[in-house]
Amino acid sequence: MKTAFFNTKPYDRRFFDKANESHRHELHYFEPHLDETTLPLADGYKAICVFVNDQLNEHLISRLAKMGVRLIALRCAGYNNVDLAAAARHGIMVARVPAYSPYAVAEHTLALLLALNRKVHKAYNRVRDGNFSLDGLLGFDIHGLTVGVIGTGKIGVIVTRILKGFGCEILAHDPYPNPEYEKLGARYASIDEIYSSSQVITLHCPLNPDTYHLIDETAIEKMQPGVTLINTSRGALVDAKAVISGLKSGKIGHLGLDVYEEEEDIFFEDLSGLVIQDDVFARLNTFPNVIITGHQGFFTKEALANIAETTLENLTEYEKTGTCSNQIAHTPPSK
Ligand code: NAI
Repeated sequence: MKTAFFNTKPYDRRFFDKANESHRHELHYFEPHLDETTLPLADGYKAICVFVNDQLNEHLISRLAKMGVRLIALRCAGYNNVDLAAAARHGIMVARVPAYSPYAVAEHTLALLLALNRKVHKAYNRVRDGNFSLDGLLGFDIHGLTVGVIGTGKIGVIVTRILKGFGCEILAHDPYPNPEYEKLGARYASIDEIYSSSQVITLHCPLNPDTYHLIDETAIEKMQPGVTLINTSRGALVDAKAVISGLKSGKIGHLGLDVYEEEEDIFFEDLSGLVIQDDVFARLNTFPNVIITGHQGFFTKEALANIAETTLENLTEYEKTGTCSNQIAHTPPSK
């Protein structure tokens, strides 16, 4: 199927071209995000393929529908960037890649935690600079800590399994308990118990109206002093300004972020020659006890191969049957 790919990088093309050897779709790659100015590029395509930071609002979707687009294939798991109600109204199917490598994101979560608690980011620079002093590098054991896992889906369960291996006690919160989590011998707890009992809190729930700014000033207030907070899920789960206050007061001892609320104007691009205009992000980036990575949790070769394969399977299935097993159903809010 003739498909317009937005927001593509050379690595996307490499993995999609390889996967397409067996699918044989007509793939056209465009570098820019999908937005008002680049929208005309979608003209003449029945399907478009977009990524996490392409914002598909009602206006854009209605114009895509008028151009004849019938399928939006997300090459990611999260879909908070698409107005599903608008897509349903305009007769556009939205499909995604529900799982590609939950290990990639779970392992990146651990990478952030381990780098933070042993200050690997500082040690690396010191040793490169011939400074072998240990002053200021004092860490803490992960073994024996209580870790709060918010969201026990595919990624949260793997994070739990890994942390159980470290000898942590895990408390989790999820409105939909997962038997896979319970099998690991970990228990569910209220969100308040997680805040008050955990030395480490890690977020693995989707971004939706219920979870927007889940970690705000009130939540931080309830946490243990010196808590380590990790977010590899979606940026807007965390109120960045509240987190900055928490870091300044010492309430938050360490912060690891792979996602940021306003990341769409920053991440995935080389801005090293420019001045960052986002003051909140710039402030976050100054703390010695903060590590930010640019939404790379998914970025392993296994995950990229799976993303490409599943996205092309979605196109193939839609082309052959007019349906797609990985369609995201729009459920209207109950009255
Ligand atoms: P999943 O759908 O398997 O699990 C999400 C879990 O969160 C579900 O068990 C759900 O019941 C739970 N949940 C929903 N509302 C909640 C709430 N209010 N409080 C607590 N839990 C709640 O999703 P998966 O694959 O584990 O991914 C988790 C998140 O990770 C995704 O939503 C996505 O935003 C993010 N992600 C980040 C990537 C990265 O590169 N950094 C890559 C892939 C996903």
